[in-house]
Amino acid sequence: MKSMVAYNGREIPKEDKVFAQSGKALDAVSKYGPAEVINATVGALYDDDGKLLVLKSVEKVMKSLPAEKYAAYAPIAGTPGFKKAILKAALGSYEPKSFTAVVGTPGGTGSIRNAIANYSCPGDKILTHSWHWAPYKSIAAEMYRGIEHFEMFDEEGRFNIADFEYKVKKLTRNQEHLVIILNTPANNPTGYSLSMEDWYGVKRVLDDVPEEKKIALVLDVAYIDFAGEPEKVREFLPVIDNLRSNILPVIAYSASKTFTLYGARCAAMICLAYSPEVAEEFVKVNSFSARATWSNSPRAPQEVIERIYADEKLLAEVEAERAKARDMLLARGRAFEKAAAECGLGIVPFSAGFFVTVPCKEPDTLCRRLNEKNVFLIPLDKGVRVSVASSSEDKCRRLPALIKETMKELGM
Ligand SMILES: Cc1ncc(COP(=O)(O)O)c(C=O)c1O
Repeated sequence: MKSMVAYNGREIPKEDKVFAQSGKALDAVSKYGPAEVINATVGALYDDDGKLLVLKSVEKVMKSLPAEKYAAYAPIAGTPGFKKAILKAALGSYEPKSFTAVVGTPGGTGSIRNAIANYSCPGDKILTHSWHWAPYKSIAAEMYRGIEHFEMFDEEGRFNIADFEYKVKKLTRNQEHLVIILNTPANNPTGYSLSMEDWYGVKRVLDDVPEEKKIALVLDVAYIDFAGEPEKVREFLPVIDNLRSNILPVIAYSASKTFTLYGARCAAMICLAYSPEVAEEFVKVNSFSARATWSNSPRAPQEVIERIYADEKLLAEVEAERAKARDMLLARGRAFEKAAAECGLGIVPFSAGFFVTVPCKEPDTLCRRLNEKNVFLIPLDKGVRVSVASSSEDKCRRLPALIKETMKELGM
């Protein structure tokens, strides 16, 4: 017997490229020391000394929790205090006209999983942009769905509304349901944020979808709180509020980056529903899915977020600390962008966030050659992803020339 598994059509790779590259980077760090290695593989914010950056104000609350606040089960959809607090965290000062409802999930991953489970059918295609977070495909495959993508940028490097429209029309011709995932602001892997003009384009396309077709517009805002000023990065909210009754916006809002609680597994899926019935149904079906997969989500991070939002002074402390970390990250992104322009290294349109992408022909070859120089990046299908979140500003400034030089060596 060589295999015991029922693969059910899923393509399961031998190794995960992200973990393979980051494993190699860690080996190099232990051999040569952190100063000699550029480990730009990591999807978490690190300080300039190469340590995971954890907001001290959040850590303090986490450590102060009494046992019953982390050991007890949380309600399936989250504690009431958490649901109230996370809604404020996600929407900021914006007050939606639609009917909101919240279901807590273990990470944004859980929100995306539940949205696909409940708003599409087995065999359906989920629509997202060409540059996207690889797990979308695995999450869809796990539930017998596939991914269809639209080209994210046109020839001029603008968000490609025409292809978005074409793919929405194509898929809604054959599917009653369509889940669309847009990862913005500060998209992973490109760092691109949809402009207001892009958003109006998205709305125009959705306004044209036949009334009998049901669309769930999943906004994966995993990086929103590191993408720019809190009010500015939420400017798009009115565009997705109050859409037609056949469009259901679902915000997948993760605490992983916002509160530096990556491993604590906390997020919420938030709907902006046209009617109270659709909002109620959202809670019902997503709670059912939660119960049938992970049951309830961890209680500790929910308690932490509730406590932060119940205490104005503490909230101000968390926001000030996050703003400092965000400024550090934004400066790294700008340093990379500027150095890339100076040495003529092309990058995919970038606004802000954890990652920058360099388009290239043979990403695996480029990464392997860079590994010989103690530089570790993530190979994608059509480029390499650079984590500015895990590289100091100085390293971000040095990286573009190193990549450009290596591409030249390889005749790229
Ligand atoms: C684009 C994107 N969406 C969602 C997530 C989900 O993260 P988590 O499940 O840790 O909240 C990530 C994490 O890396 C991500 O990059």
